[in-house]
Amino acid sequence: MTTLQREDNDQHPVGHGRMLRKEDPRFVRGRGRYCDDVQLPGMLHLAILRSPVAHARIVSIDTSAAEALPRVKAVITGEGLAAQGLAWMPTLSNDVQAVLATDKVRFQGQEVAFVVAEDRYAARDALELIDVEYDLLEPVVDARTALAPDAPVIRTDLEGKTDNHCFDWETGDEEATAEVFERADVVVTEDIVYPRVHPAPMETCGAVADYDRVDGKLTLWSTTQAPHAHRTLYALVAGLPEHKIRVISPDIGGGFGNKVPIYPGYVCAIVASIVTGKPVKWMEDRSENLISTGFARDYIMRGEIAATREGKILAIRTHVLADHGAFNGTAAPVKYPAGFFGVFTGSYDLEAAYCSMTAVYTNKAPGGVAYACSFRITEAVYLVERIVDCLAHDLDMDPVELRLKNLLKPEQFPYTTRTGWVYDSGNYEPTLREALRIADYQALREEQARKRERGELMGIGVCFFTEAVGAGPRKDMDILGLGMADGCELRVHPTGKAVVRLSVQSQGQGHETTFAQIVAEEIGIPPADIDVVHGDTDNTPFGLGTYGSRSTPVSGAAAALVARKVRDKARIIASGMLEVSVADLDWVKGSFQVKGDPGKAVTIQDIALRAHGAGDLPDGIEGGLEAQICYNPSNLTYPHGAYICVVDIDPGTAAVKVRRFVAVDDCGTRINPMIIEGQVHGGLTDGVGMALMEMISFDEDGNCLGGSLMDYLIPTALEVPDWETGFTVTPSPHHPIGAKGVGESATVGSPPAIVNAVVDALKPFGVRHADMPLTPSRVWETMRGNHTPP
Ligand code: CDP
Repeated sequence: MTTLQREDNDQHPVGHGRMLRKEDPRFVRGRGRYCDDVQLPGMLHLAILRSPVAHARIVSIDTSAAEALPRVKAVITGEGLAAQGLAWMPTLSNDVQAVLATDKVRFQGQEVAFVVAEDRYAARDALELIDVEYDLLEPVVDARTALAPDAPVIRTDLEGKTDNHCFDWETGDEEATAEVFERADVVVTEDIVYPRVHPAPMETCGAVADYDRVDGKLTLWSTTQAPHAHRTLYALVAGLPEHKIRVISPDIGGGFGNKVPIYPGYVCAIVASIVTGKPVKWMEDRSENLISTGFARDYIMRGEIAATREGKILAIRTHVLADHGAFNGTAAPVKYPAGFFGVFTGSYDLEAAYCSMTAVYTNKAPGGVAYACSFRITEAVYLVERIVDCLAHDLDMDPVELRLKNLLKPEQFPYTTRTGWVYDSGNYEPTLREALRIADYQALREEQARKRERGELMGIGVCFFTEAVGAGPRKDMDILGLGMADGCELRVHPTGKAVVRLSVQSQGQGHETTFAQIVAEEIGIPPADIDVVHGDTDNTPFGLGTYGSRSTPVSGAAAALVARKVRDKARIIASGMLEVSVADLDWVKGSFQVKGDPGKAVTIQDIALRAHGAGDLPDGIEGGLEAQICYNPSNLTYPHGAYICVVDIDPGTAAVKVRRFVAVDDCGTRINPMIIEGQVHGGLTDGVGMALMEMISFDEDGNCLGGSLMDYLIPTALEVPDWETGFTVTPSPHHPIGAKGVGESATVGSPPAIVNAVVDALKPFGVRHADMPLTPSRVWETMRGNHTPP
């Protein structure tokens, strides 16, 4: 069922429109505590020497001058690490990555050596004194040439490796899809590139490692979105006992997937602390972050769509060439090497679908991270929403009409896609109609027709997306063998205040507020009286962390269920206090009342005191009021949304201006509408960046051309319009409170809407497709028929 949900209701913490963020007083007063704020007595500083070239054999490294510099405590090379068996580490995708290069460097910016010094400046100065002799090798820069027979082999470290092949993957039914394509009236094919972009969080990555030689305990403050998973990996790599490792993820200045992988810098900081016996801090700078940490996308896709002449979509087929860089550093569930790209069938009712994928190694930084998306869903949605627009172009059909004709109907849910995903719930048409209403679509088309007559370039782009978020059911989702269930603990103190401990980790999404709201809704304690603890493996239960909008679908469910467990116990205690049976009690927001006698009641606070106090409790009930849970989701959640973008293009400069953007999102039950709106605004802004400005590109020698924010342009308030948002509510049937994720929806849905709008504006030039980023020069060339893919 879809509804336009109430905007606020004082009785319900969940869905309360005016609930402000509990964490903001700390942030707006500058009292947030980030990794770089950690100062420990005697702390040393670490800086990393990085490769200036993309592909070369290391002939020699001379560290003597660096070691002689005053205030330098240690200089470590790959050889030094190799002696300890630490030169290589596993990636989250079952590959290995060099912590420090030993044999070769494989991308520009790769870690070659590190210096530990008394201060940051001495460490950096010493880097310049390390003399490395490189024997240059030909780099592989273009994924399209990576598998050429004469291409230089990058991963010579892998035994028997004779090419740059990383993996193959397929999904769907190849034969059935070919059969549908044979008999279709219309087949449209388009080559579509999703270029390499970078999550570019405001805070770069870093760590402070503190190894205590006396008790053998390692404490690591680090910028991680997944502290528990990282702890387990450190135990495996460094051979330290897991209970002797504490990972603390303090306030994080944005992650967007960039802080999921384990970077060599973290491991170097740990090694440095073990070697020196002192705490060691490593904080990378902006360029290091942009050139060496997890990039996103880099998919070269051929999309094909088959349809009837009337516009009934029959099948979609795609082949993807995936550029994974020098090491496969993607974090994706083991069974899904291409993440959740399998949802490329989109929101449509198809007869067949098929995808084949080849992933290759190139001399670029590793990554393929889920940049504000659930494991490659951004790429999948971009493909389907672009190719559907190409079909509309060839059929000369309105893109909205084409989508309305093909959207899944509410009675088809739960819907199993042709690639095996089970969409939990959806009611698509009202969402699209709401977007059309807000945008006044008809009026926009009329305005466009008038402007076209005058030679003005106005475009209207539509995108309808379905996401798969909330990884995931442990029966088929794990990362390196770690199941994707999430723990949650709730403890109510004697005075009725509570603390909830989560395994997920906020990077600015407002978990301290929304998780308090979820628990408050379930046990009637006001959100202000509930503290949320996260980001500390010693103080929170195990779980796989925050990325891919999994916090609400997985940990949000855990928080609701743990609160219900506490409530169940509270009911039994209340029955003893009121001397009635549990069946005779009604739960009325924060208290148990005797049925038919509301005057006889005890509040949750009364019950908490009794649970901890003197006097008898009902038989078999232990003292205290707390519970814990490990929640294993039965399915992912599938939010959806309809976006409409209006652009104007200056025919003289080819500059694109996003004039209007309407985003109607359906994330099921809405916990905090204000936070959702913030998440959507941020994601839409990200989308403008990717569609119009951002790209990590390389020259033919493999030099990264996007290593600073002067070259890698990220959007500001100047580039974005006033966002117009709306919503519908189609609860998830399997989530305890019906909530789906929302954090990534806007990043996923906005690039296709913007590109579709630009292509629509360029229709008079016969343009059917243009690749991102749609910079003025690219649009200019496209207008002149000279479009070249990135
Ligand atoms: O995993 P991540 O926190 O990045 O994404 P999410 O689960 O989509 O949640 C992002 C923020 O939006 C969190 O503060 C959620 O609690 C909030 N949210 C909400 O208020 N209602 C929803 N239905 C989904 C998310």
